[in-house]
Parts: sequence; C-alpha cells; structure tokens
Amino acid sequence: MFKGVLFDLDGVLTDTAEYHYQAWQRLGKEIGITIDRAFNEELKGVSREDSLTLLLAHGGKTNDFTSEQFAELAKRKNEYYVEMIQQVSPKDVYPGILALLQDLKKQGIKISLASASKNGPFLLEKMALMPYFDGIADPSAVAKGKPAPEIFQLAAKNVGLTAAECIGIEDAKAGIQAIIASCALPIGVGRSEDLGTDIALVASTKELTLDFLLSVWQSAKV
Ligand code: G6P
Ligand code: MG
Repeated sequence: MFKGVLFDLDGVLTDTAEYHYQAWQRLGKEIGITIDRAFNEELKGVSREDSLTLLLAHGGKTNDFTSEQFAELAKRKNEYYVEMIQQVSPKDVYPGILALLQDLKKQGIKISLASASKNGPFLLEKMALMPYFDGIADPSAVAKGKPAPEIFQLAAKNVGLTAAECIGIEDAKAGIQAIIASCALPIGVGRSEDLGTDIALVASTKELTLDFLLSVWQSAKV
C-alpha cells in the first residue's frame, strides 16, 4: 500500500497551466516569438528559467539577450502570471481533487506538493488547500528541476517517506519522467499522445478517486 501522494499543482490541482501558457504567449509576442499549444507541452512542469531558455531557443533568439535581460524577461513573465492568479479561489480546484485529499487524509496517507512553481504556496492558500498538505517541496532547494527526480524525492522526504513508497500525479511530460526517475509510481492527467501509453492515465481529475489510486498501485505491485 502506498504511504504518500506527491502532487504536481499546475494542471493537476487547478487550471493554472493555462495561465502559465498565456503568460508565456504574451511575453513571447513582445519579443517576437510565437508559441502554440504543441510547443507549450514542452514547457509544462519546467522551471521558469528553463522555460524561458526553451522559449528563446524556439524563437531562434538564444543569444539575443544578456543575463540581466534574461532575468528581466523571467520576472516579466512572472508578473503577468501573478496578475492572472490573484482571482484564484476554492471554486477553481479541479473536480474530484478535494474528495481525494479528504479520503487520503482519512486513511492517514501523506500528501505532499512536488511543484516546480515558486507560486505554489500562494495558490494552495488561495484554493484553501493548505491544510491538507503535510509537506511542500521548495523548488529553489533542488539543483535540477523536472525531468530530474529531485523535487519528487524531496516532496517524499518532507513527509518522512521515500519516493518509492508514493504515487506521483502529473499533467506534464517532464513531470512524468521525473516521477519515474524518482521511483514513485506515476499517474498522468492528460492524453496518451502527450504523456505516453506506458503509465496509468486519467482524462479528468474526476477519475482520481482513492479506489482508482489503490487499483493502480495494486496492479503495478503484483
Ligand atoms: C510549474 C508549471 C510550469 C512553470 C513552473 C515554474 O511546473 O507547470 O509551467 O514554469 O511551475 O513556475 P513559477 O510559478 O515558479 O514560474
Ligand atoms: Mg503541471
């Protein structure tokens, strides 16, 4: 039986993955780089700085900015994003998530956040989900972001577990790779075209019930 669940935030607990996309799109437009949803799949789960590096490479502008300008662009994207998330409220929690968090708590299963976002704690507060979380992994405390496993390993450690004792839930390709590398058991939220066919997938967070998690764990551990 798994002892913990390691949650990604953006695109798993709520729809903020869309706001990240819109903020990158707005910044991209200002510096002459157009992005679409297919390219955005590459940004999902990836840290702010690594996302900006990917965006500049996508637009063929890798060497066009000094490090000061790079930092200013990253800051500007975050300002656009922070502006959009001010209105986030408990109504924005994805379907099924609250019931799952409540059921996990009842079972004594640890709940930990493994998001690359420095805005994670702010969003948990906005959605009134903070009381459910036994731990939050600080993304600035890990040397390598997703797809490296560190953030999931840290999220498990923060609740006294190893990643191998946990399920990890993710909507991003980089995040699924990170979960697999950490030895946690992945569940993907999204499409097999984006996340692969070799892991348990749900199309909607509505399907993320405690029973579903138990069945995924049991079938993986036989
Ligand atoms: C999450 C999102 C990414 C975002 C990253 C950093 O992983 O999926 O789109 O770039 O967090 O977020 P931040 O809020 O710190 O810029
Ligand atoms: Mg995500």
